[in-house]
Amino acid sequence: MLESIYIMSSLNQLKPLSYSTNKDGEILLADIKIKDLVKKYGSPLYLMCEKTIRARIGAYRDSLKNNYPESLVLYASKALNCQAICALVKQEKIGLDVVSLGELYTALSVGFPIENLYFHGNNKSHEELKLCVDKGVNIVVDNFHDINLLSKICNEQKASVLLRVTPGIECHTHEYIKTGKQDSKFGFNLDELFTAIEELQKINVNIKGLHGHIGSQIFETLPHQDTCRVFMDLYKKIKDKFSLEFPDLNLGGGLGIKYMESDDPPEIETWIKILTDSVKALAKEFDLKLPRILVEPGRSIVGPAGITVYEVGNIKNIEGIRKYVCVDGGMADNPRHIMYQAQYQAEIDGKVNLQDRETVTIAGKYCESGDILIRDINLAKTSPGDLLVVFSTGAYNYSMSSNYNRSAKPALVLVADGQDYLAIKRESLEDLLRNDLLPEHLNRGVLSKT
Ligand code: LLP
Repeated sequence: MLESIYIMSSLNQLKPLSYSTNKDGEILLADIKIKDLVKKYGSPLYLMCEKTIRARIGAYRDSLKNNYPESLVLYASKALNCQAICALVKQEKIGLDVVSLGELYTALSVGFPIENLYFHGNNKSHEELKLCVDKGVNIVVDNFHDINLLSKICNEQKASVLLRVTPGIECHTHEYIKTGKQDSKFGFNLDELFTAIEELQKINVNIKGLHGHIGSQIFETLPHQDTCRVFMDLYKKIKDKFSLEFPDLNLGGGLGIKYMESDDPPEIETWIKILTDSVKALAKEFDLKLPRILVEPGRSIVGPAGITVYEVGNIKNIEGIRKYVCVDGGMADNPRHIMYQAQYQAEIDGKVNLQDRETVTIAGKYCESGDILIRDINLAKTSPGDLLVVFSTGAYNYSMSSNYNRSAKPALVLVADGQDYLAIKRESLEDLLRNDLLPEHLNRGVLSKT
């Protein structure tokens, strides 16, 4: 499995590449029955198809290689970061974007090549920046506070930096995941950029280029084309004013994925072709050298690779109003419906071929009415004990999970070629108490912690 599987056909599918069903309507991943995985690892369970992750990384890396050789894909690890994923990304020889000490520490723990690590954040701490400078991690400078801190940190050691710019581009996605519009907490606004460059020139850094990320789960290609124009226009202005031609240009991530069968995002190859063609044409138009292009996809690498399996429990039917099918997880393992009204598709294991279907709402088990996973889904008739499989949960599910209601986080298992590999253990009740302390004055008379 060392080589990546680069598949020319569409990767634009809702289900992982190794997903299959048998004649009994049972669901398998990498030829393993998900029922057996649940027996082994418990429910709920996050499952990640390694073949899908490698194929999607391959699609980015190889279409860049074909269209624009001077380039680098960075996996935006906020979508899902753990040692197994960092090691897989390292094996695939692409870079990694990290946004916290935790993500950085995880990447470093698997020996991720430092020169391909990029550290982001709109409020980086001294500790974070110091570690990046000491280790040689690339820094995406976001604001004047970063510059001020770096001016104190970069004395002997030179840091390699990109400047994050808010390009003022609007795109159709959820309000919370738009980042490129002028009213954003991220990046320098256009009128601040020249001052930021002047300030950075006074300190010991190597300015590699600009960075822009306009939002996430984007289906249109025009906003990214507009972003290319904004940036190449800036490169021209910077060349005229500072006699500087930056070697790198980071265009961020944001390519959307299919959550519903009706979703129709562009293929990775199409997206890459449109972006790289834009940059090439603009370089000509503005008489600029071709910068190395960096892209930073997260969701479109791991999203479609993941499914979550839950066990059905209580079913509450409110005659003429709604039927709630309650599962053993919910907003703590997937807060995306409650946060962004995200929609999902799902199937019942063992009933995939069943014609007897009905419209139900999948509810979680947490103490909150909004704890819904899927509203109004047409699903095979289900009963307690069935397994529900929710698709496209590989991105921003585990990474956004919480211990709400003091629930233990599920396990995450990687599957490949008929094998399953535990990547993150299920939390135990003991794990939930790991950081609790019982102050002495409250401990009197308490016999046991559990
Ligand atoms: N680069 C930067 C600077 C970003 O802020 C992000 C995502 C990415 C790259 C990767 O974007 P992607 O390719 O995954 O769209 N929690 C939300 C998504 C938040 C995205 C935050 N930034 C969700 O569940 O939809």
